[in-house]
Amino acid sequence: MMFQLSAYLFVFASLFLTRAEPISRKELEKNYAKGLHLISLTDNSDPVWKTEAETLELIRAHINFFDVTDIYDPEKEATVALSRYASFAAIDDISIQATYASPSHQSAVTPLFKTVSVSNMQSYLGNLTAFNNRYYTSTTGVQATTWIVNTVSQIAALYPNSKATVSAFKHTWAQSSIVAKIPGSTNGPITILGAHMDSINSASPSSGRAPGADDDGSGSVNLIEAFRVLLASGFKPTTPVEFHWYAAEEVGLRGSQAIATSYKSSNVQVKAMLQFDMTAYVKPGVKETIGLMPDYVDAGLTSFVASLIDSYLLIPWATSQPCGYACSDHASWYKQSYPAALPFESLFSNSNANIHKTADTTAVSGFSWTHTLEYAKLAVAFAYELAI
Ligand SMILES: *[C@@H]1O[C@H](CO)[C@@H](O)[C@H](O)[C@H]1NC(C)=O
Ligand SMILES: [Zn+2]
Repeated sequence: MMFQLSAYLFVFASLFLTRAEPISRKELEKNYAKGLHLISLTDNSDPVWKTEAETLELIRAHINFFDVTDIYDPEKEATVALSRYASFAAIDDISIQATYASPSHQSAVTPLFKTVSVSNMQSYLGNLTAFNNRYYTSTTGVQATTWIVNTVSQIAALYPNSKATVSAFKHTWAQSSIVAKIPGSTNGPITILGAHMDSINSASPSSGRAPGADDDGSGSVNLIEAFRVLLASGFKPTTPVEFHWYAAEEVGLRGSQAIATSYKSSNVQVKAMLQFDMTAYVKPGVKETIGLMPDYVDAGLTSFVASLIDSYLLIPWATSQPCGYACSDHASWYKQSYPAALPFESLFSNSNANIHKTADTTAVSGFSWTHTLEYAKLAVAFAYELAI
């Protein structure tokens, strides 16, 4: 009887806990030195080692992944592994959804929309797309970070009463992420608006032309303009607001993972994280719609974003088809148990097919400045409603 029970337990356990020992520090360091990447391809499997060429193959095949090379922590893995096997239950557990009050600042927020400028966003995007590419290891990718730091710092300098700060978040690769912070009258929790500033030509990553106008120049300039509008309005939040422009999203969400894991380990409290990744394309002939992603997001925050769209924007929302594993930077926050959401340019099925190519420009038929303007307004409303 004892034997049978333990045999049963052993079979049961081996079905679910097929995980090997965590990767040792020694193996991490050895493979890191060889230039290998540690890649997570699904929720319920261990990460695997890939060469640089193999990771680029995954990108070309449109297979999303987390590159966890920098953030893998052998000490944490034992507990993470156990919770990972329980995560399917947790994802749908309604009791862990964050809750948010209904939008209530229409009389203060709506007048700000008149000051959200398409021509500013056109100018910012002209500058960002002028870099040959914004790849995370290229010289122009580094210059693009410097351009954002300078541009956002110049805006902050115009409004010193805001006490806003801008800093580069350095990584183990050349391109830094950028964090602009509007302090609150209290320390937290923080409201985060994110976009990724890198771009990629997947056929020729290091030197190929990658204007990345929609992916993700659009979200990047939405955030620059929303930051400017809030500071110009004299916005003095109760809780802090941060604007993040992530490096190295296209190669496995590396910038956002570095920041999200750093916040988690410092016990930083986050009220909400909203990702802006591709906000400018409306497929010709298709009804203009904001696609709310249903997977790897917080359902309570997504409902709140829907209510912001209903209250403030000129176009409706609809629930998109799933975006899938590791599809944009919100997933890095989701993975650290922070509430995150992704309002996308359309239903996933109607999104811009020109991304990761030379062709991702503002000249694409369907690229819409009035469409992306709505996302800049959403960014303003999101920051104001959550942080004032
Ligand atoms: C941004 O682009 C404008 C032209 O649209 C140009 O005049 C300006 O010098 C550029 N700024 C930077 C910092 O490159
Ligand atoms: Zn992309």
